[in-house]
Amino acid sequence: MPAVSATAPGKIILFGEHAVVYGRPAIAAPVLAVNCKASVFPKPLGPVGEVTIQSDNIGLDTDLTLLDREHPIRFLLEHIQAKYGFARFPAMHIKITSTIPLAGGLGSSASVSVALIRAISGFLDLGITDQNVSELAFLVEKIHHGTPSGIDNTVITYAKPVFYKPGHLVETLQVEAPIHLLIADSGHSTLTRETVAAVRKLHADLPEYYESLFDSIEEIVKRARECIEIGNLELLGLLMTKNHNFLKDMSVSSPALDQLVNTALDFGALGAKLSGGGRGGNIITLVSEQTSEPITQALLSAGATRVIASRVLPSRS
Ligand code: PMV
Repeated sequence: MPAVSATAPGKIILFGEHAVVYGRPAIAAPVLAVNCKASVFPKPLGPVGEVTIQSDNIGLDTDLTLLDREHPIRFLLEHIQAKYGFARFPAMHIKITSTIPLAGGLGSSASVSVALIRAISGFLDLGITDQNVSELAFLVEKIHHGTPSGIDNTVITYAKPVFYKPGHLVETLQVEAPIHLLIADSGHSTLTRETVAAVRKLHADLPEYYESLFDSIEEIVKRARECIEIGNLELLGLLMTKNHNFLKDMSVSSPALDQLVNTALDFGALGAKLSGGGRGGNIITLVSEQTSEPITQALLSAGATRVIASRVLPSRS
């Protein structure tokens, strides 16, 4: 059995986070500038069933059975083992490396899952389909997030911009004009499961208000989709900032995120919003080729700890 490697990108949510947990649509795009790589190596001399894992990023260097049963990697591998009918796996060593920042809203957990599932699928010749890759990664997301909408595993599996509505077939988006984005890290991180839980409580306390916020966001998502498909970047930017304001109303922004959004807008961005769970993590901002560099510098001066440039390219290029 030769060694097999697979990679998976990061992701950002362009529109519709949180509302998507309540059945509304959202738009997400892969971030190809960062990725996760999983490699599976045979251990010809190892006893059948011996699986070792190494990931320097999260300080992991262990035998699979020494991980907690609910550890996402152990859970995933044991799930694959049962689903595909292996009494035991052949002896193998798994190495995972990632350039995706942890807990930053860039989909690091789903990316690890997708890369690992594909590497294992290749190594064991399982032929796991994209749909099954996404479904398996979704099971792991549940461990991380509690009640994930499924958007992270979907966009990372298909590695294309997607219009995602829970319970509906995934639609990949036609992109008319290149979308230049900057992803700026606030330097604070809050677990997505915490912000999702906070919104759940607020929604339970004020259902009508939160439902109306989700409805407004749904309208933005639908209009944003049209803008992406016809290349109307000016309106796309305005919708982005509008989406941010609804996320603020939802109480998932933070002073640091608002400051980065305002800085980007002050320096000529077409729009900006927090991306992902919020109360920390990243903002995204829609820029042009000309404004990308000055806005990057402005964001760093305003306290961003890292700025990643990312492009969503036209479908035909
Ligand atoms: O924090 P992230 O980037 O994983 O984004 C979570 C997006 C939410 O809508 C808040 C949750 C979800 O499962 O969709």
